[in-house]
Amino acid sequence: MVVAVYSAKGGVGRTVLAGNLAMAAVSRRSRVALMDLNLSFGGAEVLLDMEPAKTLADLFPVLLELNEQHLLNMAVRHASGVHLLASPVSTAWVDRLGRDEVAALVQACREAFDLTLIDLPADLNPGTLGGVAEADHILFVVTPDVLSVRALQVSLTALGDYGLGLETRASLLVNRVDKLAEVSVDDIAKLTGLPVFGQVRSDYRRIRTPVNLGMPLVPGGGKKARTAVGSDLQALAERLTG
Ligand SMILES: Nc1ncnc2c1ncn2[C@@H]1O[C@H](COP(=O)(O)OP(=O)(O)OP(=O)(O)O)[C@@H](O)[C@H]1O
Ligand SMILES: [Mg+2]
Repeated sequence: MVVAVYSAKGGVGRTVLAGNLAMAAVSRRSRVALMDLNLSFGGAEVLLDMEPAKTLADLFPVLLELNEQHLLNMAVRHASGVHLLASPVSTAWVDRLGRDEVAALVQACREAFDLTLIDLPADLNPGTLGGVAEADHILFVVTPDVLSVRALQVSLTALGDYGLGLETRASLLVNRVDKLAEVSVDDIAKLTGLPVFGQVRSDYRRIRTPVNLGMPLVPGGGKKARTAVGSDLQALAERLTG
């Protein structure tokens, strides 16, 4: 299964959520990948505290005939067990990894891994569209504030023009939920017409250190998470892999 994590607004938690869902899923599924399509300024390698020797750029010569072995050779394994498919470090790749190339990557990931999380960029470029078009499921990350909900509505309208058949594959992942929320989770669902996959509480103070140190918010080995964000993500990973 391939799950794309998208939001039209930056800074809402796509990388932290996609990365930690992948790390949380590893104890339940043996082959889990995190593919970073935020070309040139990824973030996933920082979240995992890695300096990957290989990136998606290394797959370019074989992209349209990609097989499982190519992906497994290129992926860089994190201590958690997650296979990182890191983003290239030059903006030139935005033109090279277009819709067909990303579609080929997604299809190969479906074969090579039990679960792949894709950290998509906010920009609706051809590569992003390839990810949204091909993923089995799209989690729209939104924070419970007017600007984020508005950006989500606009992006759903824009994506609607492409006729990608989102209706059956899209749901909401509401992040940073707390009692100061400007918009309730129920209202976000009503305003967007999307079902709620899950919600994650806001707790910047307690996740700041592990996030900055590249540590998983969800510990392996069936241990309980130590933060509200971690335990919410643990429950959501169980649902994803259930
Ligand atoms: N549930 C949460 N509670 C508190 N802070 C959070 C939560 N989720 C994410 N954050 C914080 O929000 C910030 C942005 O998160 P992140 O980098 O994952 O967002 P993003 O959508 O990937 O951003 P970008 O647009 O830069 O790619 C980080 O400092 C992260 O630690
Ligand atoms: Mg990010």
